[in-house]
Amino acid sequence: MQQVKAVIARAEGAPVELVTINVPDPGQGEAVVKIQSCGVCHTDLHYREGGINDEFPFLLGHEAAGVVEAVGPDVTSVAPGDFVVLNWRAVCGSCRACNRGEPQYCFATFNATQKMTLEDGTELSPALGIGAFAEKTLVAAGQCTKVDPSARPAAVGLLGCGVMAGIGAAINTGGATRGRSVAVIGCGGVGMAAIAGAALAGSSPIIAVDIDPKKLEQAKTMGATHTVDSSATDAVEEIRRIAAETYPGAEGADIVVEAVGRPETWKQAFYARDLAGTVVLVGVPTPDMKVPDLPLIDVFGRGGALKSSWYGDCLPSRDFPMLVDLYQQGRLDLDVFVSEEIGIGDIEAAFEKMHRGEVLRSVVVL
Ligand code: APR
Ligand code: ZN
Ligand code: ZN
Repeated sequence: MQQVKAVIARAEGAPVELVTINVPDPGQGEAVVKIQSCGVCHTDLHYREGGINDEFPFLLGHEAAGVVEAVGPDVTSVAPGDFVVLNWRAVCGSCRACNRGEPQYCFATFNATQKMTLEDGTELSPALGIGAFAEKTLVAAGQCTKVDPSARPAAVGLLGCGVMAGIGAAINTGGATRGRSVAVIGCGGVGMAAIAGAALAGSSPIIAVDIDPKKLEQAKTMGATHTVDSSATDAVEEIRRIAAETYPGAEGADIVVEAVGRPETWKQAFYARDLAGTVVLVGVPTPDMKVPDLPLIDVFGRGGALKSSWYGDCLPSRDFPMLVDLYQQGRLDLDVFVSEEIGIGDIEAAFEKMHRGEVLRSVVVL
């Protein structure tokens, strides 16, 4: 057991606190990771606000990269000294989804068995089973994916959540390829990553939609070929018009990624998809939101697919090393998502900036 500094949310709505926690030595199937970077995500704020569950105190942080310090008995997938990106869906390898070759839908994902605790022995709930706003954290070894150790931690750690969700929403869930058009509604960290994913896949046109002109300017640098300010124009009409410029007769984009998480924008995505097109919901709705009231004939009449994308339908062991290599080769810009590097004591300020839409990601660097 060892003691390290970490950031916790002690009670609903209370500001986060920097405290000392106990990290157990890794047991069977576990690893202790020395954290080098961890992005600040909406989900951390949702935990703090009690929007996920009430198992306070939470150890926050989950978009992380670091170096494995120690592993428990029988761990062979990683070893001390390995540079890893953490993921929150370690797959079991034997459930129905894993057996049918779709481990990205594993029903039995798992975390470390032992608990990290406060100095008084209170057990902590690590955010998404990770808890990486900490000098060190305890995870399941399956949550660690080894990647190129010369990569910048602050950038590649973001693959652990939001950036992977966006890239995967476009490529893994939406099936973006060359010869297909992609529209992305909402250009925050997740939507911007979806644009980068569509660009990586060779799709064109790539239409970025947002209500914030600054985000639209940035979207162009990520690979958007067109931008639509939906506060000023009708997003659906514009997406249809732009898609038809490249593909005459198209009635929308082949793939429309909704990266806001609201019924109004999902409805725009629904009507902005071409016949047989795919809508991908990757923005996370709140529990009270409802599917908009739509004529069933419009669902039937357009064919295609209405999908949701969980963690970009990623398989960390396949996707993380590949995307890190593309980043190292200069074919995928991950640095752009790091709006600022901050200290572990600056997380409340980072929540504020995130709330005001000023950053793609603030990243704690240790
Ligand atoms: N139409 C278009 N864009 C919108 C709209 C709207 N009606 N409302 C908000 N936006 C834009 C914002 O201007 C911002 O650029 O959506 C973007 C949201 O970005 P962020 O707040 O940075 O969120 P992000 O981290 O990208 O996550 C998006 O996915 O993971 C979830 O909880 C997360 O629901 C959130 C979504
Ligand atoms: Zn499984
Ligand atoms: Zn996240």
